[in-house]
Amino acid sequence: MKKHSSSEALVSKKAPESENDIYADLKADHKEIKALCTKIRSNREGDALHVVRDFSALKALVTAHARTEERVFYETLMQYTEGAEAHDDDLKHFLFEAYEEHHVADQLIQEISSLDPSDPRWMAKVSVLSEVLNHHIEEEESDLFKKAKKELVDAEAYTLAREFEDGKREMMEAN
Ligand SMILES: [Fe+2]
Ligand SMILES: [Fe+2]
Repeated sequence: MKKHSSSEALVSKKAPESENDIYADLKADHKEIKALCTKIRSNREGDALHVVRDFSALKALVTAHARTEERVFYETLMQYTEGAEAHDDDLKHFLFEAYEEHHVADQLIQEISSLDPSDPRWMAKVSVLSEVLNHHIEEEESDLFKKAKKELVDAEAYTLAREFEDGKREMMEAN
């Protein structure tokens, strides 16, 4: 990859330093998702009220994050896997796998929502959901971000961040 000199890098950045790029936005959500999973799982014996409130926050965040991430980030990257510009077959496979992992998380979230927290399957399913999410986040932040950075120029990573923030906010507010 072409390395910019420090002065070129300053000129090529179209957004102020205070604004996140798409990777920083996604990472911030991932951190919150992981923290909520840990909080819910550490409350095994705890009160149902807090656990239900934390799960409902996790459900809202994961749903808004995954749908907006698919629409803004995955679909943009998918365009780089098609046509004459396509050069990374791995990226396409990786994206398809990521969609499936979102699907598994969605299904578990629906199943957990239909159970009473006193049901022993409730926490078992939350544990599996947490493992699925942690695995997905780890792969996303290492492999997928690395591949994305080869395709997206800096300006695009900032534009996608604004689209992601607006789209996610709309979904959270509609919830
Ligand atoms: Fe993500
Ligand atoms: Fe994802």
